[in-house]
Amino acid sequence: MSTTISDYIKAQQPRSAKAKASNTVSVFYRNLEEELDARRADHSLVTLHTREDHTVDFSSNDFLSLASTGLLRMAFFDELARHPNFQLGSTGSRLLDGNNHYIETVERELAEFHGAEAAIIVNSGYEGNGAIFSAIPRPGDVVVYDELIHASVHDGLKECLALTRLSFRHNDVDSFYETLLEVRDSQPQIRQGERSVIISVESVYSMDGDVCPLRELVDAAKEIFPAGNAVFVIDEAHSTGVQGPKGAGLVNALGLEKEIAIRMHTFGKALASTGAVILANDTIRTMLINHARSIIYTTAPSFPMLAGIRAAYTLLKSGMTQPAQDRVQLLVRHFFKHMLSKPIWNKAKEMGVLSIPLSEDWESKDHLTQIIPVWTRQKYNYFLVFHLHFNGFAAYPIDFPVVPKGTSRVRLVFHAANTEAEVEGLAQCIAAWAEEMVDIEESGKGVRIPTAARQAYSVVAAEEVKNGAAANGDKNGEKFDVVVGKGVGNGVSSGIPVSVGNGNGANGFH
Ligand SMILES: Cc1ncc(COP(=O)(O)O)c(C=O)c1O
Repeated sequence: MSTTISDYIKAQQPRSAKAKASNTVSVFYRNLEEELDARRADHSLVTLHTREDHTVDFSSNDFLSLASTGLLRMAFFDELARHPNFQLGSTGSRLLDGNNHYIETVERELAEFHGAEAAIIVNSGYEGNGAIFSAIPRPGDVVVYDELIHASVHDGLKECLALTRLSFRHNDVDSFYETLLEVRDSQPQIRQGERSVIISVESVYSMDGDVCPLRELVDAAKEIFPAGNAVFVIDEAHSTGVQGPKGAGLVNALGLEKEIAIRMHTFGKALASTGAVILANDTIRTMLINHARSIIYTTAPSFPMLAGIRAAYTLLKSGMTQPAQDRVQLLVRHFFKHMLSKPIWNKAKEMGVLSIPLSEDWESKDHLTQIIPVWTRQKYNYFLVFHLHFNGFAAYPIDFPVVPKGTSRVRLVFHAANTEAEVEGLAQCIAAWAEEMVDIEESGKGVRIPTAARQAYSVVAAEEVKNGAAANGDKNGEKFDVVVGKGVGNGVSSGIPVSVGNGNGANGFH
């Protein structure tokens, strides 16, 4: 059985009672175990896992397969060879000794590639969003954001001087329009063009895989604020490398470079490296250097990190990643073609067992994203993931609070190095699971769990019996019983105690 699954299940067993009963565990650790038990109680304790070698990757953010194929490593070694005397660490904050010619050169190159006036490289996208939203909005400004914006923007907003922050419905141009009207009508200084509206969106949403209607949003903002005091900040984490000319991102794809005040590209995903760049003009760059605590109070990016980024951009610029970019498109189309032609597809969709919103009209779309969430009834996403893992496919469930309550899903990610056969196998595996769930629901027996989940829990129970643990097989079986049927899909708790997230931006199985 997948050790990922068995380790995860085992980790959900409560510990604090045992710790309390023991004289050897201090109150400090007992209290922490008690806190962790609160998560174990609803099977939402996060455990770390390493991906098993035998599984096929339909999960990682290595979209272009630059990491798994070693292509980036070769470009990286070339870059190192050009700088044989490199110094590993940057030796200081960017404001002190951490600045150097190399980082400034790489920043200039990145700005030029993306058609921006200035660039500043930061240690991560998380830090980048923190820097932007803590330093740029001024008192009296208003921040308007898509309701599904990344957690790092929310964390940046905690330090933000703009006290009014309003969300609009995800990717909904009408809701965006209404929100801007509300700002205009309630904020005289903004109406008079004395303060700004700062709009936060992502080019591709990480958990939904859908693309921001950026041009429509830009047009709406111009119409409502003709003085130009509505400005956009776009997070291009999931479009970098995979969208636009040579992977330059959505803004470049739409030719909106002059319309967007701030762009952030991250390098931990398609570019298989680490760090991020904020693209803007010189005023924004100077503001960040002067006001962003996450830039000021940290060591500047190291040479190996910068060399990795530069190597990735060498590949982008040369056009070497274009075949990988095209192949992701081809594989996603291949998946839709196979998945939607499965005999069970329509029935499973009608019953609410399975759906893939991004597959609607896929044939007419010019661009498909590499992130394809598969929606299931609430909590079924764990069953599907168990099924996928047992069949050698790595993908993970996504739950509240990473996504809103009642929107659990399995996130599939397609990579250039996936093969057509793997994609067909994945579609077949999902269809087989859907058939089993449909059978279970139609049998009307109420309480039943699918084979993979039963198998997972009985293996863990057997191991526990072997190890003399208190829990027994029946008890474990009970824990995962589920009343299968229509009532489960409406966001109301079904009573399945599989993980439902932990209230802290991470979900249990991850
Ligand atoms: C949309 C988005 N923004 C920012 C980040 C953070 O980027 P990084 O991993 O470089 O910290 C992520 C990564 O999870 C992301 O998905």
